[in-house]
Amino acid sequence: MTDYALLARQLDALLDDRDWLTNSAQTCAFLMQELPALNWVGFYLHREPGMLGLGPFQGKPACHPIPFSKGVCGAAARTRETQRIDDVHAIADHIACDSASNAELVVPVVVDDRLWGLLDLDSPRRGRFTEADQHGIERLVRAFVANTDLT
Ligand code: SME
Repeated sequence: MTDYALLARQLDALLDDRDWLTNSAQTCAFLMQELPALNWVGFYLHREPGMLGLGPFQGKPACHPIPFSKGVCGAAARTRETQRIDDVHAIADHIACDSASNAELVVPVVVDDRLWGLLDLDSPRRGRFTEADQHGIERLVRAFVANTDLT
């Protein structure tokens, strides 16, 4: 089982700069190294109304831009709630960027009641993200937010 408390402490120590670009790139690389069974981790940024633009990521080149109206990422942006999908093929408007992806977790990054962006994780393993993983990864997102200037 993944020790998310340990990962949160390690991420906290890793993010020793407050710059959003540096920290988001470091966070993706850290998660890709530390979490098993992932094929893609990255940030989508909310820099224009109703749209998500691709930010720092690890994995294959991905879809850009994504409107709020589409896909699992769009649902996370609209609802500002984490989307945890056991099997992306069961989601009618899932946007397939990498055919290796079968499960997905998308965590909104909200700062001062404003959607800054999303953290998106994809796995080749169906059901990869348990509720415990969701809570653990939300905790890592909080560590990213606490260490970064996002306003
Ligand atoms: N699958 C996502 C799109 C982003 S990629 O997974 C990197 C979606 O349906 O929104």
